[in-house]
Formats: sequence, structure tokens, C-alpha cells
Amino acid sequence: MTISSEHYDELVAIRHYIHEHPELSGQEVKTTQYLKHYLEDLGIHILDTGLKTGLVAQIGSGQPVIALRADIDALPIVENTGLAFASKTEGVMHACGHDLHQTSLLGAAKILKNRESEIKGTVKLIFQHAEEGHFGADDILATGVLADVQAIIGYHNMPTLPVGQIGIREKGIMAAVDQFYVTVKGIGSHAAHPHEGADTIVATSAIISSLQQFVARQINPQNAVVLSVTHVEAGNTWNVLPDKAIFEGTIRTFDKADRAFAKQRFYDIVTHVAAAYDVTAEISWILGPNVTYNDPELTDFIFKTTQKWHEDVVVPEASNGGEDFATYQERIPGVFAFIGSNAPGSPGLHFSNMTVKDETIPVAVDYYVASAFALLERLAT
Ligand code: NI
Repeated sequence: MTISSEHYDELVAIRHYIHEHPELSGQEVKTTQYLKHYLEDLGIHILDTGLKTGLVAQIGSGQPVIALRADIDALPIVENTGLAFASKTEGVMHACGHDLHQTSLLGAAKILKNRESEIKGTVKLIFQHAEEGHFGADDILATGVLADVQAIIGYHNMPTLPVGQIGIREKGIMAAVDQFYVTVKGIGSHAAHPHEGADTIVATSAIISSLQQFVARQINPQNAVVLSVTHVEAGNTWNVLPDKAIFEGTIRTFDKADRAFAKQRFYDIVTHVAAAYDVTAEISWILGPNVTYNDPELTDFIFKTTQKWHEDVVVPEASNGGEDFATYQERIPGVFAFIGSNAPGSPGLHFSNMTVKDETIPVAVDYYVASAFALLERLAT
């Protein structure tokens, strides 16, 4: 079950075109137009969502109803791949391989449309905007067009796995994402007279060091939790202690209880350590996607289905990255897979020199198509 070479060449050309024309989260206007034209040329019905970017198309009709999802947005990164089809928009790059994702869903759309008479039920195709911005899935769900969907399938390419390898793992496959931004306020003073102020730099250092304590000592070591402070700023010269410092970063968890506990400990430690240093701390907390949670029963079914047509199927390591596919899975049982796209030796996702191989496209197309037919059959019985 592989796509014909005729489709392959066409899809490679499409992917290269999309790669050359990346658009940021929420700004995927031309990308959406391009996808819409391609689907309409195939005679595929586009649902009316009222969204400015992103779209949902439909093939087949009636019960049961399943959905296939790809994301379409790019990142604010200056491309450094040297590819002949590198980004033509300076500072914007498909560095997460969403060009590959949407291309493979177009390929699946073409095959499913050709085989529409065999489809017993409905397949909804979600070309989702703003995955990187973490609001696309919420937008699509809010339109109501997925209200009747009984199962949902998605994937992310993984440049660190061998090309074409499919990784399917039950339960948490990608992490819940929390983001924090902290402003530490003290009293500025001369560097020579620290006792006349309240030093925000020493306080911030102590807060950051203390934050690692709860991850190491209070989280079950069997559970993955990571806390990273990624940005610190204070002061602007050598002989003045600043009255303000800021730091920000992220916490990744796989368990609801750990997520709640981590937030509580974060607030306790930041507030109390700040008080111990006679400064104050204001915390702003930004909730990202929940755990990308693969329904165990459905995952087992998709794993076995995939093994029937593909040799290289594995249970991959979970990733501490986040994915707003999780937002659909809170309402719809779903399976999110990894598909190897460039190992060995490729830089990971979001690197300016990250590349994915075109040979990944047919495997991804087949993953969508095979999963769709198998799911419809399972849900019908
Ligand atoms: Ni991505």
C-alpha cells in the first residue's frame, strides 16, 4: 500500500512549494488559500468554519465520523538549510516540518476522494492553523464542525527517527506545557553599598537554583518532569545593582497531579525565596497544551492496523515537546504518532538547519489513509 509515483512527484513539488512559502501562526492566509484551491479542484467539500486561516474539509457522508489532522504554520526562524527550496520569506521557516504534515494530508485527501465510494461514513480533514501558537485546535473546536467526530488521528514528523519509521505509544506521548514569566522587584543601589538596597540579582539566582529542588526531590523519579529557565535579564552596568530582574521559562509534565503540584511548588518557592531576600516576585503563568494522551484501546488498534501494512512500527520514547493535538484529545479519543523523517544525524525540530526527507511523505499519506479506513470499519461494527 504505497502511493503511486505519479502522486509522489506531485506531492514532493507541493511540499517544496509550501516550504518556500511559510507563514506564522494565525497568518496562514496564502497557505489556506493554496490548500483550499487544491482540495476544491479535487471536488472536495470545504466546511464553513468562518475561520480566517486553517480549514476543515469533508469526504464521504453519514456515520461513523472520523478526523485526520495536520498543522500548517511555520516558525519565526531564519532558515539555514541551504535547500534549493528554502524559505523565500526571510525570518520565517517551516522548521517543524508542518510543510510535510499538510502535504501528506493533501495526498491522503486525493486518495480518499478517489476511493470515496469505498468510504462508509465521513472523514473530516483538518488543516489546522496556529499549532505553534497553541490556539489553532481551540479555534477549530469552537466552530463546532468536529462535534460529531468519534476518533481523531494525527502525527508529527521526527527528524531524529529513521525515515519512515512509525512510532505509536499509548497514553502520554508529548508533554503538558506550562510557561512562566517572573518579575522580581527590589531596591536599586550602588554596587559598593548593597545594604542600602534589596538586591534582585542575588535573589533571582537563589530563586532559580531553588526551583530545581522540587523537581529533583519531590517528584517521583519515575515521572518525567522538566523545569527550564530560559531567559534572565537584570541590570545594565557594572557598578549599579538594579531594582528589577526578570526570568522566564517552561515546565513540562506528563501527569495531571504532577502538573498541579509543579505549579503550586513554583509559586511557593518563588514567593518564599523572594521574601527571604527582601524582594517581591510577580508571577505570570501561561497554560499551554495538556498532555498529548493517546487513548490506550484506540492506540492498540492503530498500532496493529499499522503493522499490517508497514514493517517499521515501534513504541517510541515520549517527547517533552508539547502539541496542541492534545486539545482535540480532551474531547475526542485520538492517536498521535511520530513518523521518522531524517535520522541519523539531523538536527531536531525548530533548528534553523532542520530538514525532513521527501521519502517520509508516502508513509505519512498511507498512515492517514490506512488509519481512516480501519477506523471507519471498527466504528461501524
Ligand atoms: Ni510541530
